[in-house]
Amino acid sequence: MSMLDDSNGSSSHLNHLPLNKWEFKKVTDSTNDDALAWAEAGAPDFSLVIADKQLSGRGRAERKWVTNPGSSLAFSLILRPETPEIPFINRFVALPALALACVLKEKYQKTACLKWPNDVLIDGAKVSGILMECTWQNDLPIAIIIGMGINVNQGSVPNKNDLNYPATSIEATIGEPVNRWDLLSSIILNISHLRTKICSPDFIAEWNDHLAFKGEWVRLSAIDQNQEVKVLGISDQGYLQVEDHLTKRHTIEFGEILHIYTQ
Ligand code: BTN
Repeated sequence: MSMLDDSNGSSSHLNHLPLNKWEFKKVTDSTNDDALAWAEAGAPDFSLVIADKQLSGRGRAERKWVTNPGSSLAFSLILRPETPEIPFINRFVALPALALACVLKEKYQKTACLKWPNDVLIDGAKVSGILMECTWQNDLPIAIIIGMGINVNQGSVPNKNDLNYPATSIEATIGEPVNRWDLLSSIILNISHLRTKICSPDFIAEWNDHLAFKGEWVRLSAIDQNQEVKVLGISDQGYLQVEDHLTKRHTIEFGEILHIYTQ
């Protein structure tokens, strides 16, 4: 039986994770919406909402995110940023993606990379997307919602028509089914570990080590989409640094990489 098909079984698995609170939903609209409401209601740091199926899963740029039951992971983790972390709030966007890349390497010897800002790619295809949202009070972030969708096993990858980027599942790339509870557990542990480095330059170094398309020409959603730019790296603030054909450098704060041109 696959893990989230058994909602009673979920408690035994989730109880073993280093979480303050958790909530499992067989079906929900969007775990990010649930987490935002729960954060407003006072959920503590490291509270998790996880669902087996989402009816209105949300992606970046107002796209929809499909979560098929029995084969995907869809969860939202609530973090309460501590004072020293607040200047580094933009870095949190890479935290779950880096955690997944570490897990894929440790458990399956698979190299994954991060398509800026936070998609996880294996062999050029997307296995995970992240939607980070914050709640604010007096210009200070009081909760960070890390919403993560992962194509784990066969059946999790949506139809081609629903995709804005080539996608695959972890099962398809490693050649065997993956236990979603084990995967979730390793990701949560890695997020917890990587968070201890979030204020250090080591975090940016790790992000740069995993950055996809470094030195390659790409198009970005944030600027003229006909303009090609060369990916240089990630800045201290978590922004994308690129260079145009006139070797002029640009720092991109928002947006995403659209198309890839290899030369
Ligand atoms: C993207 O690639 O555009 C981001 C996708 C984020 C999807 C996850 S699934 C769990 C959480 N709940 C949502 O409604 N969205 C995020």
